[in-house]
Amino acid sequence: MTTNQSPVTNPPTTNPPITSLPVTNYLFLRAALGETTERPPVWLMRQAGRILPQYRALRQRFPDFKAFVKTPDAAAEATLQPIDELGVDAAIVFSDILVIPEAMGLDYEMIEAKGPRFPKTIENQQDVSMLRSGAEAALSLEYVYEAIRISKRELAGRVPLIGFAGAPWTILAYMVEGSGSKTFSKARRLLYTQPVLAHELLQKITDTTIAYLRHQVLAGADLLQLFDSWAGELPPAHYRAFALPYLRQICEALPEVPKTVFAKGAWFALEDLAALPCQIVGLDWNISPEFAKQKTGGHKVLQGNLDPCTLYADTKTIEKETRAMIQAFGGKHIANLGHGVYPDTPLDGVKAFVGAVKNYDV
Ligand code: CP3
Repeated sequence: MTTNQSPVTNPPTTNPPITSLPVTNYLFLRAALGETTERPPVWLMRQAGRILPQYRALRQRFPDFKAFVKTPDAAAEATLQPIDELGVDAAIVFSDILVIPEAMGLDYEMIEAKGPRFPKTIENQQDVSMLRSGAEAALSLEYVYEAIRISKRELAGRVPLIGFAGAPWTILAYMVEGSGSKTFSKARRLLYTQPVLAHELLQKITDTTIAYLRHQVLAGADLLQLFDSWAGELPPAHYRAFALPYLRQICEALPEVPKTVFAKGAWFALEDLAALPCQIVGLDWNISPEFAKQKTGGHKVLQGNLDPCTLYADTKTIEKETRAMIQAFGGKHIANLGHGVYPDTPLDGVKAFVGAVKNYDV
């Protein structure tokens, strides 16, 4: 055990943690720990979402995305849908990375077909000082912990459950920018103009994320993934200064479960990512398996990285590309796309991908 754990509040008492429930499909957990497996495990980022007709039907009941996320029964139902429909080897709890800014006191809206928007953004010291952080902020995310407990109960050990959070740089980017952006120039500007303030904000996000993920593990999450979706926006030196130290703190604080760091666009930081105390490094589709293996020195299990657009192709092409990807990784691999599955991907394409991995003979 490490000694640098920040204080945790008592775990919620409504339902006991069910971490002891046996997982019967060990493939993902075995692969995560670096074991050689008969085939790579497979799941898709954003599998709990609009690709599934069941999800779209459930979503009808919640005109407001945030109300959906905050209803644990519904969130658990969305979490299980891809297990039933696609037969993937892991579930990921249905939530969003933006629950962290909200828990810290920065409210967001999810605008249909457009994405998130923060009415108020972070600009100065006063804005950062006003934010809640750490265990106190994480307490308000009880609805996520409850969704995890229900999901674990309903999964009944069929597959492991992945908990997740946004990486601190990506969360800062939303809090400063106020929405998605082509350039993230406001967020990147802050790193040059107010670096001390940026570090203060990153530390507050990190403290909150650690407390949040610890609650997720207590509630039953078997593995954790950090999404650094805007990693590729930073120059390498800034990635080293403003992103990696916080990823390291989070990984070090949660030694009890395997962890994946998915830093999209961060091909330039693969060596640094390989040095983090995580087991799995997620790769986007711009990185070749050969390059990733060389840069990570065989120390990590690699996850990814089929171009999500492959799934628009015909079944034969999907199968061929999937097999080629598995071969190129040649073990220590978790099959996935190089980013979240696009919402208009045909379900048949998704199934062809999952099927191609599951039928793969090593
Ligand atoms: O299946 C899963 O992966 C679990 C659920 C999940 C969601 N968001 C649900 C969601 C996860 C892991 C996320 C992570 C997330 N959210 C990221 C990191 C991954 C990535 O894609 O890089 C980011 C950047 C966000 C922020 C976010 N949430 C955006 C930009 C959007 C709008 C774009 C979009 O896809 O519509 C969301 C909304 C969102 N989060 C949806 C889902 C299923 C769509 C909402 C709907 O039902 O209309």
